[in-house]
Amino acid sequence: MKKHNVGIIGYGWAATAHIEAINSTRQAQVTAIYSSRPLDSADLSARHGGSIKAYQDVDAMLADPDIHVVDITSYPSQHRNQAVAAANAKKHIILEKPMANSLQEVREIAAAASANGVKGCVCFECRFSGQFQSTKALIDEGVLGELHYGEVDYYHGIGPWYGQFRWNIGKKDGGSALLTAGCHALDALLMVMGGEVDTVTSFSTRSKSEIFAPYEYDTSSVTLVKFKNGSVGKTAAIVDCLQPYYFHTHLVGSQGSLLDNKFHSSKLKTNKAAWSQLSMKMLDSGDVSDHPYATQFQAFFDALDEGRDMPLTSFTESLRSFEVIFASDRSAEQGGRPVSISEMR
Ligand SMILES: NC(=O)c1ccc[n+]([C@@H]2O[C@H](COP(=O)([O-])OP(=O)(O)OC[C@H]3O[C@@H](n4cnc5c(N)ncnc54)[C@H](O)[C@@H]3O)[C@@H](O)[C@H]2O)c1
Repeated sequence: MKKHNVGIIGYGWAATAHIEAINSTRQAQVTAIYSSRPLDSADLSARHGGSIKAYQDVDAMLADPDIHVVDITSYPSQHRNQAVAAANAKKHIILEKPMANSLQEVREIAAAASANGVKGCVCFECRFSGQFQSTKALIDEGVLGELHYGEVDYYHGIGPWYGQFRWNIGKKDGGSALLTAGCHALDALLMVMGGEVDTVTSFSTRSKSEIFAPYEYDTSSVTLVKFKNGSVGKTAAIVDCLQPYYFHTHLVGSQGSLLDNKFHSSKLKTNKAAWSQLSMKMLDSGDVSDHPYATQFQAFFDALDEGRDMPLTSFTESLRSFEVIFASDRSAEQGGRPVSISEMR
């Protein structure tokens, strides 16, 4: 048996990818699953390997002293109560995005974890993708010089062909174009640009296609970000497009530019008239089985073993991203009024 036993809350699509990723880490295995549906322990164990106990009572699972970590992959409107209960039960927490659907709830989760001395991992797994690890390394090496402009955009049509459409269309669980999925792009923008955000200005709209008519909220938004160091950025969050999945990145610095997997660097004396190519695993799919959860969860368990917060996606770091996300949604709701982050604190 490995060191950390993990109990899953919510057995849906994301959970299946999480279980495989957790079991692939050096230190952890899934030993329990809570679902509102009756599930069979023998069946779960046969499907995922190891010995998995099915729970239909979340409090009973949280009371089990043999569970050390809880992984929350339920509907977003359930995240706050389940995460706070898990923290109070002294379990470390893996939490799917969005952390919750209000900033108040996100803060309550972070506060409960801190008060109980447990660690958190938010599924902003794009930060651990080959694409963004390489992009960040390039920036840190000074290949692009100092960045003064960045765009990271999320284009992924979430229509009836996508499993979570049934609940994603509702304001209660879907929230906004940013909360439901575009948050990955805004979070990635914050990672690569570094620096603190001063103000955001956001506008939202929606497709005229009947396909996306069931949505209770605007499914396209564009957010302009002004950083305290003077640099600026942009994130489009488009979940009502009809096109292939596209996670678009364009960064501009004092020594060159990066466009997705292409770059030019005057520091490296490459030819400015043609892009140079980078070989890296791109974020090019909305399928959870392609997401870099395994790398992220390995980093989480390594950090747990060393008694420190995980890099890049701890509750504290992700809370900062959610402040910007909720400020952006406030701006869009108010017709594009610039909203400063200090106003959210
Ligand atoms: N980080 C990412 O890239 C990513 C990708 C996909 C989903 N997610 C997140 O993961 C969470 C779950 O999303 P999902 O796509 O797994 O949704 P899902 O609809 O497959 O599952 C969501 C919840 O519904 C429950 N559920 C599913 N089918 C059910 C049924 N027949 N009866 C009763 N309950 C049922 C699941 O147990 C789970 O609690 C959300 O917070 C979502 O935003 C994140």
